Amino acid sequence: MKKFKAIVLGAGYRGRAYAEYAAINPDKLEIVGVADPVQAETIPAPKYWNDWRDCLNDRPDADIVIISTPDDLHYEPAMAALDAGYHLLLEKPISPTEAESREIIAKALRKKKLVFIGHVLRYSPSFARIKALIDSGEMGEVVSISHQESAGYFKVAHSYVRGIFNNSQKSSPVILAKCSHDFDLFAWWLAGKKCLKVTSFGSLSHFVPENRPQGAAERCSQCPNAIEKLCLWSAKKMYLESTDLHYLFADSTRPAMQKVVAESRFGRCVYCCDNDVPDHQAVLMEFEGGVTVSHMMTGFTNRNMRTTRISCTKGEIFFDGSELHVNIFSGDSAKADVPEELRGGNYSRHGGGDLNLVAAMLRVLESGDEKQICDINRASLQSHVISFAAERSRLAGGVTVHIDD
Ligand SMILES: NC(=O)c1ccc[n+]([C@@H]2O[C@H](COP(=O)([O-])OP(=O)(O)OC[C@H]3O[C@@H](n4cnc5c(N)ncnc54)[C@H](O)[C@@H]3O)[C@@H](O)[C@H]2O)c1
Repeated sequence: MKKFKAIVLGAGYRGRAYAEYAAINPDKLEIVGVADPVQAETIPAPKYWNDWRDCLNDRPDADIVIISTPDDLHYEPAMAALDAGYHLLLEKPISPTEAESREIIAKALRKKKLVFIGHVLRYSPSFARIKALIDSGEMGEVVSISHQESAGYFKVAHSYVRGIFNNSQKSSPVILAKCSHDFDLFAWWLAGKKCLKVTSFGSLSHFVPENRPQGAAERCSQCPNAIEKLCLWSAKKMYLESTDLHYLFADSTRPAMQKVVAESRFGRCVYCCDNDVPDHQAVLMEFEGGVTVSHMMTGFTNRNMRTTRISCTKGEIFFDGSELHVNIFSGDSAKADVPEELRGGNYSRHGGGDLNLVAAMLRVLESGDEKQICDINRASLQSHVISFAAERSRLAGGVTVHIDD
């Protein structure tokens, strides 16, 4: 297999997750440079830049640009990198706006360059097994899908209340930021059927100033003990007493996390942040052939997980968040084991999805198949078109939005 070279723009959580593939598979991928103003050197590479522009201006000798900068910094580097002739591993969302997302894909189609979106769930073993079960035909035709994205009370507070995805003006609507992954799964499982109609409701119900306890400080480190101790979302509990979110930080030593709580955006009271994105949102979709899909995203769950029930004409598939169950109406019921070939070699983030995604991208590039490249580029837009339609529906009070193309 050919060895590919990549540069990374944005060495945060996602940039590091993809770069890990090169560290594990140095014969398949080499990171030849990293651009990041604050933490470039967290990814080993021979060359560093402070900003993505300086990096692309230097035209490094590479095949792939990994774009893992914040949402509002996808469009410019993506367009510049395509113009310079690179393939892209572009983190979702393609862009926070529909027009820019379409422009990026249109340019990639013109230039016959691959834009591989960070839709990691396709590459997690259980969801890949569902795809294989549907494609096998043994379950009959899919009639409906009922899917819940339990976002986890702690993860929602981290990313969508305190974090960089908390404000739709500065990043993306949450239905795009969080749920484009799920819409990508539906479109992939139902390949060949387009989503025709979308309706959505949702709001920011809990993380609002009115719910701030009387006397609570603006930062958890300064909050009176009696209030902080009772607060589920205390930053001291989330980042100092628990290590569950430490994987999101390059430096999670005790002094670094104390600084996070004392000084960073993650130490803020959840009731006085600049957040405006919903903490729960429901979406109903109709695909071609009358297939109905319901998607419920809620931040008020104990675990951060997804559950799915797929009703087919000959049986049901149920994913309970860790195991897959298959019930055939004629009588057989079984746990559906995930075969070795769908597992990939590594069970790291997203159930192995992060590294499997990089491996899948390299396979496509190795094939050099331009038709496949263009098909992938077109398909990646589906999840975004559904997300933008859902947000339009929600903002208009739940009207049905028709998707025409
Ligand atoms: N696929 C997934 O499951 C998934 C999960 C989380 C986030 N994301 C997406 O990945 C992207 C990055 O998210 P993250 O969680 O890694 O954020 P992050 O904050 O950890 O990393 C972003 C990095 O970009 C750097 N950066 C900012 N300006 C830059 C510039 N001008 N040039 C170069 N680098 C710059 C920042 O310093 C930071 O290190 C976002 O678009 C996000 O929506 C995808």
